Amino acid sequence: MDLQLSQRVVLVTGGSDGLGAALVRTLAAEGARVAFCGRDETRLRAVAVQAADGPGEVLPVVADVRDPAALARFVTAATERWGAVHALVNNAGASSVGPFEQQTDEVWQADLDLKLHAAIRASRLVLPWLRQAGGGSIVNSLSVTARTPGAGSMPTSVSRAAGLALTKALSKEFGPAGVRVNAVLIGLVRSGQWERMAAAQDIPVERLYERTGGSAGIALGRFGEAQDFADLVAFLLSARAAYITGAAINLDGGLSPVA
Ligand SMILES: NC(=O)c1ccc[n+]([C@@H]2O[C@H](COP(=O)([O-])OP(=O)(O)OC[C@H]3O[C@@H](n4cnc5c(N)ncnc54)[C@H](OP(=O)(O)O)[C@@H]3O)[C@@H](O)[C@H]2O)c1
Repeated sequence: MDLQLSQRVVLVTGGSDGLGAALVRTLAAEGARVAFCGRDETRLRAVAVQAADGPGEVLPVVADVRDPAALARFVTAATERWGAVHALVNNAGASSVGPFEQQTDEVWQADLDLKLHAAIRASRLVLPWLRQAGGGSIVNSLSVTARTPGAGSMPTSVSRAAGLALTKALSKEFGPAGVRVNAVLIGLVRSGQWERMAAAQDIPVERLYERTGGSAGIALGRFGEAQDFADLVAFLLSARAAYITGAAINLDGGLSPVA
């Protein structure tokens, strides 16, 4: 199946590790022009080297998505290089969960800045370019907790529920302009954040995957792979998903009781 992503300009936030890095490599392999950001230049460069094998082009940009000026520089770097934007993936994020009474205003603000405000700002920056291109696609990386918030799941679950509303509202408002907006609700998927958690607990990451994946209630009984995310998002960005918008698709191996 030809995804027709060749030479399409795609912006990916949080592309230097985990799911975002797998997506950057996949899009480059499909021939896309991919600008991607993160805060760490060394990790960005490493992903750029991995993606260089593909027929596409990559542009790593150091940018903290919580900083509006840095986000604007990220978008400008892509438009100056390629003169267009066809798609945006709001993927940068980190888990932030714990007992509600311990979550301070600062913790809430930091989570909203990272996950919600960054996605709002990046979408606002990119939408004029998508209109100019005659349409385009936005995908938001969210969590299954957006629909099934549990005890101790805040602030992430609340920020992600807002991301779900953002996805739906944008899809309604910009559908007439040919812009599709979808979300991926992620369950438990292998990535850098889990590797760092295993290191912090001083256990092999495979043991963490087996222990958590086996006991979490995942129908398939295991963690997902970053490539599962990359394949789904590449499809959602592509012309093959031309009639899919306003959708929130679980990528969770059957973990969530709500589809
Ligand atoms: N993997 C899962 O099981 C899972 C579950 C639910 C939701 N998610 C969501 O899926 C997305 C990807 O997660 P992941 O598991 O791939 O995590 P990851 O391996 O930790 O990668 C996160 C990426 O986001 C970047 N990032 C973090 N903070 C940033 C900031 N302020 N500005 C710019 N970039 C930033 C990181 O780069 P730097 O740190 O270098 O900036 C990195 O490239 C996140 O939004 C996460 O919340 C993942």
